Amino acid sequence: MDAQIDRYCVFGNPIAHSKSPEIHAAFAAQTGQQLEYEKRLAPLGGFGAAVHAFIAEGGKGANVTVPFKLDAVQVAHALTIRARAAGAVNTLHFTSDGIVGDNTDGAGLVADIVNNAGVPITGKRVLMLGAGGAARGAVLPLLEQRPSQLVIANRTVATAEALQQQFAALGGDGVVSACGYDAVQGPFDIIINATSASLNADLPPIPPTVFAPGALAYDMMYGKEPTVFLRFAADHGAIPRDGLGMLAEQAAEAFALWRGVHPQTREVLQQLRAKL
Ligand code: ATR
Repeated sequence: MDAQIDRYCVFGNPIAHSKSPEIHAAFAAQTGQQLEYEKRLAPLGGFGAAVHAFIAEGGKGANVTVPFKLDAVQVAHALTIRARAAGAVNTLHFTSDGIVGDNTDGAGLVADIVNNAGVPITGKRVLMLGAGGAARGAVLPLLEQRPSQLVIANRTVATAEALQQQFAALGGDGVVSACGYDAVQGPFDIIINATSASLNADLPPIPPTVFAPGALAYDMMYGKEPTVFLRFAADHGAIPRDGLGMLAEQAAEAFALWRGVHPQTREVLQQLRAKL
């Protein structure tokens, strides 16, 4: 292996189906950066050791996926504000000052909505479904766009309320509210499904009145076929968008952190879409 080339990887378990190597190889080619990016299967309970082994081999940074995003918080010596707010790390940067943990998932979501879908969030009424890890990572980047409202609806209301309380102190006071699905009062301009319900072909029990005409309905999940949430949204006048763009944009944010240059995602997104 060429010792001159900077090395990166994605850690997960399982990891075989990760699209990250393909995405980062495309970014490297586009920006003329020399780097290697590989998949690494870390053993359950062995994430920290796997990270330190990669650093010892000369690794410069890593992405982190399921189930290690909380372990990555522990491995980091310093966290960015957005990683601390998210309570999870998806990007590690190995610097001379130590391991920095960042979270680019929420920024990826916002970039996909604002830049790729062309839907501004500023001044909009936003409904987020779910209050788990994916939702938590999105709240601060969404609030930075200054929506007029951010309603977090969750099956377990107490989890949504805990998120509201956390973010009230971070610019969300008067903007963020929490409720159960039965108490959601629409319509909304942007509706984001951050639940894992789509994995089981389930639909959070929301009334069709949540969708303002022409609203953006965003599912963080993606696949060859639209999710049940996206089909429901399209049937009620919303414009559906899946999370493939979020995947590409969170990777672009990580690449920018490591390399100091922000790649374009349009071509890689087309490439990923064609292979679904
Ligand atoms: P992730 O990291 O994907 O966010 P998580 O932290 O386990 O995973 O959170 C899963 C989220 O999806 C939660 O908001 C969960 O609701 P609860 O907090 O009530 O468990 C939500 N969820 C999962 N399956 C769901 C379903 N079938 N209907 C509605 N919400 C669901």
